[in-house]
Parts: sequence; structure tokens; C-alpha cells
Amino acid sequence: MSHPTQKKKKQMSHPNLLLLAAAAVLLLCQFPHLANARLSQNYYANICPNVETIVWDAVAAKVKQTPVTIAATLRLFFHDCMVEGCDASVMIASTPNNKAEKDHPINLSLAGDGFDTVIKAKAAVDAVPQCWNKVSCADILAIATRDVIKMAGGPWYDVELGRLDGLRSTAASVNGRLPGPDSNLDQLTSLFAANGLSQFDMVALSGAHTVGLVHCSQFANRLYNRVDPTMNPNLASQLLRLCPKNVDPDVAVVLDPFTPNQFDNQYFKNLQKGAGLLTSDQVLYTDNRSRRIVNALAQNATSFDKYFTSAMKKLGRVGVKTGSNGNIRHDCAPLANLSHFLSRQKPHMTLVFFLSEYRSMAVPPSRSIPSIFLMARSSLLLLAAAAVLLLCQFPHLANARLRRNYYANICPNVETIVWDAVAAKVKQTPVTIAATLRLFFHDCMVEGCDASVMIASTPNNKAEKDHPINLSLAGDGFDTVIKAKAAVDAVPECWNKVSCADILAIATRDVIKMAGGPWYDVELGRLDGLRSTAASVNGRLPGPDSNLDQLTSLFAANGLSQFDMVALSGAHTVGLVHCSQFANRLYNRVDPTMNPNLASQLLRLCPKNVDPDIAVVLDPFTPNQFDNQYFKNLQKGAGLLTSDQVLYTDNRSRRIVNALAQNATSFDKYFTYAMTKLGRVGVKTGSDGNIRRDCAFFN
Ligand code: HEM
Ligand code: HEM
Repeated sequence: MSHPTQKKKKQMSHPNLLLLAAAAVLLLCQFPHLANARLSQNYYANICPNVETIVWDAVAAKVKQTPVTIAATLRLFFHDCMVEGCDASVMIASTPNNKAEKDHPINLSLAGDGFDTVIKAKAAVDAVPQCWNKVSCADILAIATRDVIKMAGGPWYDVELGRLDGLRSTAASVNGRLPGPDSNLDQLTSLFAANGLSQFDMVALSGAHTVGLVHCSQFANRLYNRVDPTMNPNLASQLLRLCPKNVDPDVAVVLDPFTPNQFDNQYFKNLQKGAGLLTSDQVLYTDNRSRRIVNALAQNATSFDKYFTSAMKKLGRVGVKTGSNGNIRHDCAPLANLSHFLSRQKPHMTLVFFLSEYRSMAVPPSRSIPSIFLMARSSLLLLAAAAVLLLCQFPHLANARLRRNYYANICPNVETIVWDAVAAKVKQTPVTIAATLRLFFHDCMVEGCDASVMIASTPNNKAEKDHPINLSLAGDGFDTVIKAKAAVDAVPECWNKVSCADILAIATRDVIKMAGGPWYDVELGRLDGLRSTAASVNGRLPGPDSNLDQLTSLFAANGLSQFDMVALSGAHTVGLVHCSQFANRLYNRVDPTMNPNLASQLLRLCPKNVDPDIAVVLDPFTPNQFDNQYFKNLQKGAGLLTSDQVLYTDNRSRRIVNALAQNATSFDKYFTYAMTKLGRVGVKTGSDGNIRRDCAFFN
């Protein structure tokens, strides 16, 4: 991610709501004393001129590793500013003599990744000699907050700087300064007013609940006994399922059920539907004194951006310390503090779900994706030997029909065009990553990599995609190829020149990279297949209960070795799996090869007769990161499918698992090698194929 300082500022397009404008002007004028001369945009211009870029880069790296960083940082800033002002006092550690802000009960749910972001960014800043000990933790938190908003697709704004770090931090000072989940409008309004923030600011700032998580306990009183009549009944019934009484206190659901990872004005649209999770969210709409603000911000995304950023700037001016009221803290969170919050980051579960009935996917088949993010938080020579051995096994696979520069004279920018289309799609819908990767696998294993899996069924022909095993292919994989194809075809030179099969191959390579995985050159030159039948899928794809021999022979049928098969299974480092796929390992008797902790978590998340749409992450440790964690999981008994765990249980393949678990670079190497081989399976050329104009239909 590059630092978007140059991004042009958004223009407010025709404020179609006079009301909005009037209300805003009125309210913005109410607190002229807030204009804070002590902060300035270029405060560090001569002190540490690149501070914003340094912070951006550190934050981007952290977000890539741990996306929950976004919401964690934003909330940390809010909780810091509301109590004793924006002075990083929330980061201070408690001592035997002083219980600090962060240990006030309301702050115990601040996610550790927000603190960690500031610590990492501070370290990056202090690594530059000129900047060493010159930038306050409070300013770094302010910059990082602006950055995470942008990284989640939200608006950019210039951040005012020049805060010093506070000199005190007490839990007692938090009392009565932060809103609770059950606050009513008057309470909310007066709490914000105490910091010079208007009701309008308060409503706009609440839009921050467009990202992040909330623990079930925070809205439990709206569910049990009697469902809060202001809550949308669909939402209520989903929440009752996801947050049953006595649910594990670590379970959390997304605050914005519709676009949980996107920083947008969806939060206000949710309130209009009764889909605010907290009482304090929904009341903004229920109370007719603030409803018009909600309606205005719901209606106009540009206005939301404008008023949200303006309110964030005001929030950033609260209680700023200068002179002898503060200093530049060298250590934002002294060591005692750090170990404390890290220990608070015990493995916790996060339920992320989407309200399927509102999903508007253009492309069938779109499975609904309520997903449960289960986040818990060895022999190189052998590897080399085994690999060399296995690499030599299929020399005939070198495929002369595919080449890297196939489109060099036909559509020279095809890879960039596809990358951009895929990046846009992934940003919008991160589940695209796993969906696309699995689609490619399912395409190649059946009749070769020819996009035959994308073909729609007709009254006379049930196509591959309607075979039962393919019904769980997520719609976003299909949509990615369709969007990328449209982008390619929009370039006159490329129109109708690039096959759907090649676009899927490029998109797959791209999503792996976007999830933090390895890059590889993708071979091109496939044509699209001319037939697609559900019957052809029979016996070609592995099932979740396959044993090692079955897996090995299925892959071998396509020229892929056991080594390739194990390496490729590492794809289960991302993505989701429905409870039904491993149900037989849980009920009656827990599969003895399954880690008992995992088993008990899964039993809770996937109770018998659970909603068939519920899915959990395939890699409970780093679910969004494309890495070799999958193999480490298998070593712990934390493979979800029988076909995953058997790779470790069966001692014929265990050494491959151990080798790939031990060495991330080797995994990258062998995975990409095996992907390239997978991409060569059953390639169509000449009259065996064509270039499909519409990837879902034969021309
Ligand atoms: C209007 C009054 C507000 C109330 C009552 C409130 C309350 C809450 C509660 C109860 C949670 C869930 C905590 C948990 O269960 O772990 C939460 C999460 C969050 N809040 Fe607020 N909040 C308010 C305003 C704000 C504002 C103004 C911001 C930022 C500008 C903000 C940012 C966030 C974020 C980003 C999260 C998700 C944190 C995460 O996923 O780690 N909130 N809030
Ligand atoms: C080794 C045999 C394999 C078996 C038995 C298997 C089986 C499965 C099953 C049952 C699911 C869950 C489907 C659902 O519940 O929705 C799944 C998901 C997935 N598989 Fe595999 N798979 C195997 C190999 C592979 C390979 C080689 C790749 C790619 C190179 C791959 C990529 C994926 C991905 C990315 C997902 C997550 C999809 C999503 O979240 O939408 N799998 N697999």
C-alpha cells in the first residue's frame, strides 16, 4: 500500500439535503473555541519530515498481518481522547501503586493490536536518527488512526499534529467519561458535549462502528427474555443463534453485519433497518431527535466522509497537552504494560457473519457466508531430498503450450489489468481470496484448467458447477473472473483475446500474493473448454474424508505427486469450511487425532444441527494470512478436515508436513511450483477450445 498523501480530496457533491447542511453549519459553529492553534498539519516538517510515511508503512505492515488492527486502533484513539484528552494516557501501564486507564473495566475490551500498532510505528519512527524521541505517542496514534481508516476504504484527511504525551493515567479518571453500550441519546450527547463535540459529531463518529467487533455480552440484554422491539427480527434471530445464552465470553460478532471490513456509511443504513447492534447505536435512529442526522448520513456517502473526518479532527483536539503538561514518551507502553496486554490477547473467538438475505451478489451461485473466525492466537535435508526426488518425477509435465509471455503482443497489459480488477474486488470482499483459489483448484482437477467450472447449467445439461461438491464454491470466485474479464475486454486491443481460464490462473496467483503469500510467474495460453458436465466431476475431486491413498491417487491422475498434493493442501491456510464438512469428527466421539482444545471450540461453534451456512476458518491461527501455518496446525492436531489431518497422521506424508512447517521459504517454493504444475493440467489448445466471451456461457 502506498502512502496516499497525494490522493485528491473528496469534493462534497451537491448536498441534496439542505437540512444536513443547515444542521451541520449550525453545529460546527457552536464550538469556535475548539479551533486549536496548538496543533498544526506540518508540526514535524523540520523535526521529522517523513513521520507520516514512516507511520503509514508500519501500520500497513501490521494491518496486513492482522486486519483487526484497523478497528482496534480506531477505538483506542477514541478511548484515549475522551479521557484526559488525546495524550496516549490510555497506553500507560498500571503499577502496584496506580491502576491506569487501560485497566478500567470499559477499557479491558480494547484489542491489543491497537496498542501494538502504536508501539511498532513508534519503533519505526525512532529508528530514524533525526526522529529519535521527537514524535509523541499521542501523535503517532492520531496518524495511525487516520491511516487505518483509509486502509479500510474510508476517507483520507490531513491530521493535525503537535500533541505531547500525558503525564498521568488513572483508572478513576475513566469513570463517566466513556459511553456504555446502553447509553441513551441524552447520555451520549452530554458525554460528547463534555469534550466540545456536538450531537452531530457524536452521530457521525458513531459511524466508526462500520468496522470492528463487539462481544455478545454487550447486547445480550437486547436478546434474551424478550427481543428488543427496535431490533430487526432477522438480525435478532441470527444473533440468538450466534450468541446463545452462556456463550463463551470471548465470542464477538461484527458491528456492521453488511460490510464488516469496509469503512463506509453502511452503519447508518443498518440503523434504518434496525440493524444496529448496541442500544447506543440503535437509539440514534429510534430517538427522533437524532434520526434526521442518521438519515442524512445514510443517504449521502460523501457527506458522511466529510462530517466524519471533520469530527475526527475535533476529537483529535480534545485536551491536547503542550509545554510542561506533557512530554515525548520514549516508551509508549512500558514493558510491564506490554506483557500485560499481550497476555490479554488470549486466543479469542470472533464470529463474523453476514446477513445473507441482504447480500446482493450479481453472480450465481452465491452461497451465503456466515463465517466464524476462530482466532486463537522440524528436517530440512529431508525436505530437500524428498523434493528433488519428487521434482524429477514428472519431467513430462513441462508444458510447451503454455508460456509466460503468451499475451505479449496480443494484450500486453493483461496481468496488470487483472491485478487491478482483483485488488478492487478483494478490497470490497476479502473472502474473494479463498474463493478464487479454490475455484482454480476445482477447475483444473476436472477436465483441466479450462474454466469449465464456470459454465452455467442449461435445461439439457447439468454443468460442473452444479455437482454437489461444487455447490460450496463461493460466488465471489466466479465474480472475480467475470469482473477481471470485463476489465480486460474494456481494452479494445484485448477484447475477446484472453481466455477465462487464463484470467482465472492470473487472478489465483494474484489473490495468493494479496493474502501475503508468494509471487510466481504464471504461465498462459489456455483456451476455454467446450464442455462442462456435472458427471465429469465424479471421482475427480477429493472429499473431506479422503485418506492418504485416495488423495495421492486423485492428484496423481493429474500428474501431481504426493509432495505436490501436500504442498497444495497448504492452500487451506486461508478460507472457510462449513461445519458439516468435519461434523463426523466431532459428535458421538471426538476424532482422537483432533486437538482437544480445537475440538471443544468447534463443538461450541458448530453444535449439532447448527445452521448449515455456518462456516469456520480453515486455519484457526492466521486465517487471513497466506503462510505455512497450516502445516504447523497439522503438527498440533489442528487440521479441520480428515483429509488435512491425515497428512500428518499418516507417517508416509508426515515428513513432508514437518518440512513445510519448519521452513516458510521452502513452502513458498514448493507451493508455487505445484501451482504451476496444477495450472498445466489438461490445457486446451487449437480446436479443443476457444476464447469465451462470457465466462459463464459457451459462445
Ligand atoms: C457513541 C457511543 C459509543 C459507544 C456506546 C461505543 C461502545 C462500543 C462497544 C461496547 C464496543 C464493543 C467492545 C467489545 O465488545 O469488545 C465498541 C467497539 C468499537 N468502537 Fe465504539 N462506542 C461508541 C462510539 C465510538 C466512536 C466515536 C468510535 C471511534 C471514532 C468507536 C470505535 C469503535 C470501534 C472501531 C470498535 C471495534 C473495536 C474492535 O473491533 O476491536 N466507537 N464500541
Ligand atoms: C487435498 C485435498 C483437498 C480436500 C479434501 C479439500 C476439501 C475442501 C473442503 C471440504 C473445503 C470446505 C468447503 C466448504 O465447506 O465450503 C475446502 C475449502 C477450500 N479449499 Fe480445499 N481441499 C483440498 C485441497 C485443496 C487444494 C489443493 C486447494 C488449492 C490449491 C484448496 C483450496 C481451498 C480453499 C482456498 C478453500 C476455502 C474456500 C472458501 O473459503 O471459499 N483445497 N477444501
